Amino acid sequence: MENKVRDEFTARFKKVPKIFAAPGRVNLIGEHTDYNNGFVLPGAIDKKIYVAIAANGSNLMRLYACQYDQALTVDLQNLRPLPGWATYVAGMAQQIRERRLDIGGVDVVIGGDIPLGAGMSSSAALCSAFGLALDQLFELELSRLELARMGQQTEHEFAGVNCGIMDEFASLHGKKGQLIRLDCRNLEFEYVPFDYPDHAIVLVNTMVQHSLAATEYNTRRKQCEEGVSILKKRYPEIESLRDLSFSRLSLHKNELPPIIFRRCSFVVSENERVLRSCEYLRQHDLAAFGEMMLEAHAGLSELYEISCTESDFLVSLAKGFPGVKGARQMGGGFGGCTINLVERPALEEFLSHVRPAYESRFNKQPDIYMTAIGEGAERVE
Ligand code: GLA
Repeated sequence: MENKVRDEFTARFKKVPKIFAAPGRVNLIGEHTDYNNGFVLPGAIDKKIYVAIAANGSNLMRLYACQYDQALTVDLQNLRPLPGWATYVAGMAQQIRERRLDIGGVDVVIGGDIPLGAGMSSSAALCSAFGLALDQLFELELSRLELARMGQQTEHEFAGVNCGIMDEFASLHGKKGQLIRLDCRNLEFEYVPFDYPDHAIVLVNTMVQHSLAATEYNTRRKQCEEGVSILKKRYPEIESLRDLSFSRLSLHKNELPPIIFRRCSFVVSENERVLRSCEYLRQHDLAAFGEMMLEAHAGLSELYEISCTESDFLVSLAKGFPGVKGARQMGGGFGGCTINLVERPALEEFLSHVRPAYESRFNKQPDIYMTAIGEGAERVE
């Protein structure tokens, strides 16, 4: 893929680019906890966005996106939200300018192999790859954490999604064979080894385009904040759902509107699940870990209500299938992929069970991806 963006760049701009790559992510457990200051357990994957780039001495960003076959010129003096992929590029440039850092015009070719709209964070990968590219090209000396924050701000201000920091953080801090246990309250993190050659992380794409921007994601965030503001009257010290245990939350069930209680109970128990899951991984107990994934799915579906018929169907196919340790809806929700932890010897049988069953129920074929936990964003030589 890096050769493809390099060749495309050379053909268009007649010079030699530098190339940067940033991965998408999987999240093993800890969904919708990041913007509640909670815990997540993502890892970077082996599918990436590639950015070929060179300075052009002007004030213009001349952009070409291979996956869309679209070319566009953006003036650095006039950065504003744009339709589609270009908004992430404009947004990152704007973030840099807001920090009063000096960048000039660039020629850019973007390509990649992260399936788009599948909940694997292609937009976070684009922000991370482009941010790192500008950082290195113009010697800005931004930290990876700062780049992650800038990606998150871009999502908020240029894409209208009030997301947490998990996706950008994972894309920038990934390590081969390691998950990242991130505490989203203080952004402290530790790597948790996830090196199980006898298991596969399988993503099954519902082929339902998740539309995060379409209000539901932001609504969930607001509902959590509403829960906090009601409970704060009792416990002034709490800042977020992270500061509550499930037993304390349950004491106040009747003071919360039922829908708010459901949302809060999911988040509070999901935080507890992430911590337990990390314990299980330390003990190499994948069976118990898989149980956590299944429990998480039940909560995502019934309490947080961000699953969909297709994801529920896929999880019910996986649940109890011999050799499948766990399965759940992954990412923002409303479609995208389910993540499945499958013993390798059972893989073939699992896939030949899922494919036809899904197709006959929904009349479409699910795309299936094998993922490996890989390195975070980097310059490609
Ligand atoms: C999307 C967001 C993340 C996170 C997940 C849900 O991927 O970008 O910040 O909230 O949804 O866990």
